[in-house]
Amino acid sequence: MADLQHRFHSVIAPVISAAHDYDVHIVDGKGSWVTAASGKQYLDFACGIATTNLGHRPDDVVAAAQAQLNKVWHAGGSFLYESIVEAGEAIVSVAPEGLDKVFFMNAGAESVEAAMKLARKVTGRQGIITFRGGFHGRTMGAVTYTTSKAKYREGYHPLLPSTFVTPYPHPFGWGMSQEEANAYALRELEMKFKYEVTPGEIAAFLVEPMQGEGGYYPGSKEFMHALRAIADAHDILLVVDEVQTGFGRTGDWFTSQVYDLRPDVLVVGKAIANGLPLSGVIASSRLLDQWGPGSHGTTFGGNPVSCAAAAAVVQALKPVIPGVPERSEHAFARWNELKADHPSIGDVRGLGLMIGIELVDPNGKPDPAAFGSVGRAALDAGLLILNCGPDSNVIRFIPPLNVTMEDLDAGIDILASAITTHERSSGAFNGAS
Ligand SMILES: Cc1ncc(COP(=O)(O)O)c(C=O)c1O
Repeated sequence: MADLQHRFHSVIAPVISAAHDYDVHIVDGKGSWVTAASGKQYLDFACGIATTNLGHRPDDVVAAAQAQLNKVWHAGGSFLYESIVEAGEAIVSVAPEGLDKVFFMNAGAESVEAAMKLARKVTGRQGIITFRGGFHGRTMGAVTYTTSKAKYREGYHPLLPSTFVTPYPHPFGWGMSQEEANAYALRELEMKFKYEVTPGEIAAFLVEPMQGEGGYYPGSKEFMHALRAIADAHDILLVVDEVQTGFGRTGDWFTSQVYDLRPDVLVVGKAIANGLPLSGVIASSRLLDQWGPGSHGTTFGGNPVSCAAAAAVVQALKPVIPGVPERSEHAFARWNELKADHPSIGDVRGLGLMIGIELVDPNGKPDPAAFGSVGRAALDAGLLILNCGPDSNVIRFIPPLNVTMEDLDAGIDILASAITTHERSSGAFNGAS
């Protein structure tokens, strides 16, 4: 273990170091569980950052990927192969109505940037409006649109011009109700159009229907519908980034469907091939057919193996998604009970099995140190868990969608006891359980 860590640090750049601070050397994964080299088993509620929605190595997906590996595993746009068509048909069949074509790429950031290129190309406009707290990736364009943490942008300026950032409703952070936060954010958008840029110069709104990395804030159906109406009034494209919220995570295939929202462009990634690299933009053929040959391209996008896996993932998720609401209700009920007992839990929010538990200090302010102790104690007790939010103080509760009720409870029990230990050891939460 120490030897592997040493070799890792000798040869791999430290830039993505956070997860590797955890000294878990994983050798196997199946379902909701992973096994470390030490033999210890961990319940994996990190899910590869909301990617292994079906857990590790789902049988049918493994079989589909293996079968494809034995046929052809790279095409690079040079010839036709069946799995890209199967994946395309499967994905548009579960996408919001009217979105009937897809272009596949590899990572979320790449598809975000492609969506922005598409928006500029088809509208002939340059401006992009993004929402504070949004996360859209790390490449130069994507990081321009990302404002979930200033650190992600530090050292990279100047970023892309003609990008305008406006508030996204953060009710807990602002001490407001959802309605008040929606109204405030919409008023600010109105001011943006009055003082900074006219709507006729805006190609697209780029928005997550529920902010992920930014702290698990659901935007709310009302806010997203208000954006839809403003977009319609000014011929602005509504580009909905569902890289993290998609593929069953919030209780339907996409959060757009949970909200009954009609996006112009949907950006997808992460869970669509359950961990094999695949992402894409999904839109109407009316829009995508205007993106002529040569306007965009990729070597690896739509990889045959990833596509075979994606087609199998759609089939495998069909019986799983209807089980999300029951698990979600149970998890919310338990988290809300725990909130009543634990003063360090400031807020519980989310949709489906995408739940944020915000840890606060005794004054009710975000506690940037809390996740360090809670996450570590959870790890020691056998649970892998991630955080999110600008203060890294929101527990990102994202079990696999097919987690058993028993494992769901086991994960919550581990976190509850980690939170109790944190409150006792800090000593500042008087009367804490
Ligand atoms: C909403 C959202 N968009 C885009 C991305 C970027 O995806 P990737 O890391 O695959 O480039 C992420 C990654 O966390 C995300 O959560």
